[in-house]
Amino acid sequence: GSNAMWGGRFAEGPSAIMREINASIPFDKALWRQDIAASKAHAAMLGAQGIVAAADAEAIIEGLERVAAEYETDGVPEDWDLEDIHMTTESRLAELIGPASGRLHTARSRNDQVATDFRLWVRDTIDQIDRGLEALQVAFVSRAGEHAGSIMPGFTHLQTAQPVTLGHHLMAYYEMIARDRSRFYDARVRLNKCPLGSAALAGTGFPIDRLMTTQALGFDAPTANSLDAVSDRDFALDFLSATAQCALHLSRLAEEMIVWASQPFGFIRLPDSLSTGSSIMPQKKNPDAAELVRGHAGRIVGCLTALMVTMKGLPLAYSKDMQDDKPPVFEAAGLLALSIAAMEGMIAGATFNVERMRGAAELGYATATDLADWLVRKKDIPFREAHHITGAAVKLAESRGVALDALSLEDLQGIDRRIDDDVYSALSVEASVAARCSHGGTAPDEVRKRVAEARAELGIE
Ligand code: ARG
Repeated sequence: GSNAMWGGRFAEGPSAIMREINASIPFDKALWRQDIAASKAHAAMLGAQGIVAAADAEAIIEGLERVAAEYETDGVPEDWDLEDIHMTTESRLAELIGPASGRLHTARSRNDQVATDFRLWVRDTIDQIDRGLEALQVAFVSRAGEHAGSIMPGFTHLQTAQPVTLGHHLMAYYEMIARDRSRFYDARVRLNKCPLGSAALAGTGFPIDRLMTTQALGFDAPTANSLDAVSDRDFALDFLSATAQCALHLSRLAEEMIVWASQPFGFIRLPDSLSTGSSIMPQKKNPDAAELVRGHAGRIVGCLTALMVTMKGLPLAYSKDMQDDKPPVFEAAGLLALSIAAMEGMIAGATFNVERMRGAAELGYATATDLADWLVRKKDIPFREAHHITGAAVKLAESRGVALDALSLEDLQGIDRRIDDDVYSALSVEASVAARCSHGGTAPDEVRKRVAEARAELGIE
């Protein structure tokens, strides 16, 4: 037969293919809480404005609460004929309260309904993600506090560059996550406008009170243009964009965890609880969780791309293409939440092999810049010349397979007569990191200062 909600003008019902391609209930049932909340706000407003009799509005609200209770215990039924969460809920409401249910959709369309529900869902999800990111930041500051003075090689081109402190390296990620949180915050501020009342595309002739629904749903203001309100998915793209940038940060961290946990590096032991074994190689402990965080970042970027391409070229106002907005947002949100939790567990539970890290910093000629800086500062040699002298010292040490500070004074003076015994004070990795005390530098005192600030930012002690 034809559709119970819109079938009046149709001679025959939709084909099996039409029903299947049209059905969004398999995924948009995730919106049920927001859909019920928005419908209750709408019904209360219709009652308050006298658009619907107070008794009917009350029956609708009570009915919606019963539907919500059913969804809570039994889940949301998936009937393709009911297309989406909006019609699924309305149809169950009709079964529960009868004809009064038919008044709920007065002065409303699924177009403003879905725009409202989806904004509410993204807003709730941003709040959840923010809590996860905050917990991850707490893990960074506490591990950074423990390791403010632990020395490791800093890399450029993944080649040993200069010694840094592990605390400094961890706090680099704290800063990235702080920016991610602010991007989500910005997205939340921009999305927090209420589209409800825009109806199908043009607004409505009923005397609705948009401020009342706006306030009931915790929005800051009603949207200003009905055409824009029902066809705008910027809020979802802002969310996906913030999600993608955050995922990129987590992926870079995951990559470092994977490299650091490899045997040749041996910088880190990941918690067993976030690793897996091999079915053939008994010795294996693989960093799968980190690898999946790295992998998920690719899928999340794909979600952002998917929705950008969906929206590109759509005329105003609503087109059914826009129903495809939800799967990428749901997918990206789920993947990011898992990735955050996995990285938080890895950072909180990692064992850092500080001897191994320090040894790697010592053996990689990481203090060569310190030798050059010493020649400049103590002997007034131009930096370019100092660079050249130091290069010769590294070449000699490398040919002998020893660290720079293992070269004798005679060896060093053979390269440049101006070098004296004081040079050894500059060649240790401790002296190197302690010297880098510029604002935001790697010196342990600088790191401790930033950790203390970060603790205050997070409100922890
Ligand atoms: N399930 C639809 C969606 O998610 C709801 C809006 C339907 N609107 C319409 N005019 N058919 O986009």
